[in-house]
Amino acid sequence: MAQTSPESFMKPRAMPLTAQLLIFHVHLLVANVIGQKCHYQVENANADVAASPGQTSCLIQQRADTGKAVIEPKESPFSPAQWQCISQYGASVDADLPGFARRLEQRRFGGTGKASADGSVILGAGFGTTATRSLAAFARQLGLAVHHCKQGKREDIPEFWMRLLNITSMQHPNGLDGCLSTVDAMNFSEAFDQGNDLLLDTPMAEHFLDFYAVSPQSKVILTNRNAVDWVKARLQWDETMAAPLHSPCGMKLAPMTPETAKRLYEAHNRLVRCIVPAEKLTEINVFDGSPLDVPALSDFLGKGRPEFPPLFPRVSDQRWGDEAKQDFAICITGQIRRLELKTKVERLVRPLMERNFRVVVALVLDPRATASYIHRGSGEEFDDFVVVDGNFSSLQQAAEMFPSGITLLGDAFIPRDYPVDARYAEDLYSQSPEMGFEYAGHRAQSHMRQWEALERCGQLLISPVSHANYTLRLRDDSAILEPFVPRLDLLDESGVYAPACSSFGGVNDKFALIVGRGIARHYFALSLDMVRHRFDEIHQLMVSSVPRRCNPEHALKIMFDLSQTKIKTLEPDNVPVVPSKNLRRDGKTYQCIYTLNDDYNDCIPERSRVRITDIQGGFSVRKTGSTRARPDFLCEGTELGF
Ligand SMILES: *[C@@H]1O[C@H](CO)[C@@H](O)[C@H](O)[C@H]1NC(C)=O
Ligand SMILES: *[C@@H]1O[C@H](CO)[C@@H](O)[C@H](O)[C@H]1NC(C)=O
Ligand SMILES: *[C@@H]1O[C@H](CO)[C@@H](O)[C@H](O)[C@H]1NC(C)=O
Ligand SMILES: *[C@@H]1O[C@H](CO)[C@@H](O)[C@H](O)[C@H]1NC(C)=O
Repeated sequence: MAQTSPESFMKPRAMPLTAQLLIFHVHLLVANVIGQKCHYQVENANADVAASPGQTSCLIQQRADTGKAVIEPKESPFSPAQWQCISQYGASVDADLPGFARRLEQRRFGGTGKASADGSVILGAGFGTTATRSLAAFARQLGLAVHHCKQGKREDIPEFWMRLLNITSMQHPNGLDGCLSTVDAMNFSEAFDQGNDLLLDTPMAEHFLDFYAVSPQSKVILTNRNAVDWVKARLQWDETMAAPLHSPCGMKLAPMTPETAKRLYEAHNRLVRCIVPAEKLTEINVFDGSPLDVPALSDFLGKGRPEFPPLFPRVSDQRWGDEAKQDFAICITGQIRRLELKTKVERLVRPLMERNFRVVVALVLDPRATASYIHRGSGEEFDDFVVVDGNFSSLQQAAEMFPSGITLLGDAFIPRDYPVDARYAEDLYSQSPEMGFEYAGHRAQSHMRQWEALERCGQLLISPVSHANYTLRLRDDSAILEPFVPRLDLLDESGVYAPACSSFGGVNDKFALIVGRGIARHYFALSLDMVRHRFDEIHQLMVSSVPRRCNPEHALKIMFDLSQTKIKTLEPDNVPVVPSKNLRRDGKTYQCIYTLNDDYNDCIPERSRVRITDIQGGFSVRKTGSTRARPDFLCEGTELGF
């Protein structure tokens, strides 16, 4: 099918408006003459052909037949070639729904809105159930403001959209004519007045020509999937959904044959491809198994091509009336190279899903190979073992570990590296001067990055895809020692829960569990904000404490105290979560937990310790020459396989 060339799209109109509209009507009228000799040629995208003598006579005949000689010109921003696309669409649909083209002909696209030359708002032209929520989450992650119909409670949907949703999905009391005149009286420009950068989901596809008519310079994203699959998925989602049709006015999908629904769906997609200039159109299909070009999509959305693109989100179904199901959000921050996922998925995500939680995972991970960490880094030797990186080098790889049915967001976290207050590095140095000042500086910067990553994770989770009832914060290298569904009966909404162990005189900062949304939001933003803006107070309290403790755990406790956030602790039996390392010997890699420090050691529930070392062939590792009573690591007996 011919595309509108950019020139013809931009060029001043080649013929007067009335003439164009006349042609449009000619097409539609001609298309209406079902079974007559003036059959409309859908393959021919040259609008001028409509004025050819044969068809003109046909038009005259048709006019005479219907007595409809006067054509009301309606102002239109569309070019002749674009009208051609619309008339082709009308003709395709008419084959299944006779009379549709006539209805379309009666429409005033854009309602009372005016075509704007400002094309800055991007339009989603795909029907719902084509991954529009995933696209919405992606765009928000890039910093765009997005309208999506299912972004919260029904009450939160702006009036314009609610009105249009009603028109789309409900029969009008005055029938089809009543519906069409109501929609013609709507002002589609209002949709562009709400500060959004991207408009998605129902009823964007159902009223695509209305939105496009008032914003004809807009870029368009067509979310798509196999038509047969779409019909099935759409009915499963909600069997009261509207037919995949322009201005459906309450016509439903359910009573149609699947073949009809498929044809209508495909006709819409052809219309979009025909009417939108190729360079302003992007099509995405996340269902057909082909890799999505995430950098190109980011570029199309005006955000450039990132070297480390975020994950294209996977947003699981969240239907109206599903509110009874509770969201459990898990934020994982750190570095991709150090990421442990096996126990997180098997012992946390899956048990939560089995307990009927809707699980949301946000990964905020530094993807760079050069990222390094401070303690027990890759290459360090323990006896004849060596510490090695984890199993992942990209977010996409990590994403494959997660079962379907969860919502998964992933951000390639390149820290902005806010300057660290020099006093913080000095404070850390004063605590362990034997390690040198440079080491203290690295630690300080590493803490800053953790705080920044937490803030980023909070931003991802606070987006409308997740208003979690419970939020768990984990580190990249945290291992879950046994199947873990938090004892929710122990929790209330008044504070942040941290493990009682490994607190180093403050608050264990490797794990946090929060009930409700308000405190979660506060928790994620707190550290970065306070360390950047209230460091004087933190520093004062840190150096004046007795005994003097300068470490991130103590800093966190001070920040919680200053912001009057209640801290509650959980006993190790209720938090079987500790940092882990991969130790490698003779080509075999094992997952090990660090036990040397008293604080860490206390974090290991007794039954996990017994399971690891006594039941499943686990073993311990001690650094050569160490004279300490305790081994450095406890390792699981089964190999990791990488
Ligand atoms: C949409 O329809 C519902 C149900 O009939 C009605 O309560 C609501 O007022 C309508 N909203 C708008 C904005 O028309
Ligand atoms: C339609 O809405 C736009 C944007 O809100 C406004 O500027 C314009 O005046 C409205 N037009 C009519 C006819 O109400
Ligand atoms: C879960 O959170 C949602 C949204 O914040 C809220 O409406 C719902 O009542 C919560 N459910 C429970 C059981 O707390
Ligand atoms: C390592 O990655 C592969 C493929 O990405 C995966 O199948 C395997 O389960 C992973 N192993 C661990 C221990 O994470």
